[in-house]
Amino acid sequence: MLPTPRTRRPIFALAAALLCMPSIGSAETESLHARLGGQAAVAQVVDELIETYRDDPKSAHLFGKVNFKRLKQKLSEQICVVTGGPCTFDGDDMKTTHAGLPITEADFYGLVERLRAILDRHGIGAREKNELLALLAPMKRDVVTR
Ligand code: HEM
Repeated sequence: MLPTPRTRRPIFALAAALLCMPSIGSAETESLHARLGGQAAVAQVVDELIETYRDDPKSAHLFGKVNFKRLKQKLSEQICVVTGGPCTFDGDDMKTTHAGLPITEADFYGLVERLRAILDRHGIGAREKNELLALLAPMKRDVVTR
């Protein structure tokens, strides 16, 4: 038996309400930036990454005279931009920035491993981690100079 107009009305109301609902954030609709936890989370990860270089004698030839505060700020902005966050990055391009630094391929992979460990510690999912690393990987050609 067909529902009477009286019983059909609540069903229509429910369907209309669902159609009008703002989409609930999902991995498909949210930016990588949002899925990483937003800019506070990005800045925290960058902070921890750069701090690993502070007293590292093996990297002192690269980071010995660096302004850590600026580096953290610029790297956070850059990661924000490449992951689709609401930021702007006004630093130099990666080739210009790293041109005077004797960075090897081992240095590059060393940074990737440090970053991977920090993302793991923060409980970032495998999908987000791989997406972020995949965005950084092509920069190797501009960063590695030796
Ligand atoms: C995908 C990988 C990398 C990205 C996205 C990146 C990004 C950046 C950014 C945004 C800056 C700051 C630029 C500015 O001050 O305007 C910077 C500077 C710097 N980067 Fe990288 N970097 C990468 C890899 C590396 C690696 C592998 C090393 C060495 C282990 C390194 C060492 C440095 C140093 C020492 C500076 C400071 C330069 C200075 O202030 O004179 N970077 N990088």
